[in-house]
Amino acid sequence: MYVCLCEPVTDRQIREVVCSGAACSVRQLQAQLGIAKKCKKCARAACDIVNETLASVEATPMVNTHTTTHVITAVQL
Ligand code: FES
Repeated sequence: MYVCLCEPVTDRQIREVVCSGAACSVRQLQAQLGIAKKCKKCARAACDIVNETLASVEATPMVNTHTTTHVITAVQL
């Protein structure tokens, strides 16, 4: 599903970027994918997808128990 219509970006693209570790906030998604730069109507939906994706990554069992996981909240525009 397209999240940003001004710069055609899908929820799948957002999830991939977040899962890759390249972005964990809407501001970082702006730099990576170009979303939320024009009308910004997509910012709230993008923020929700970032938070959902980070939460699902957090819920995934980790093999290495010495790794510390940080929760980073998406910033508002
Ligand atoms: S819908 Fe994303 S900037 Fe307009």
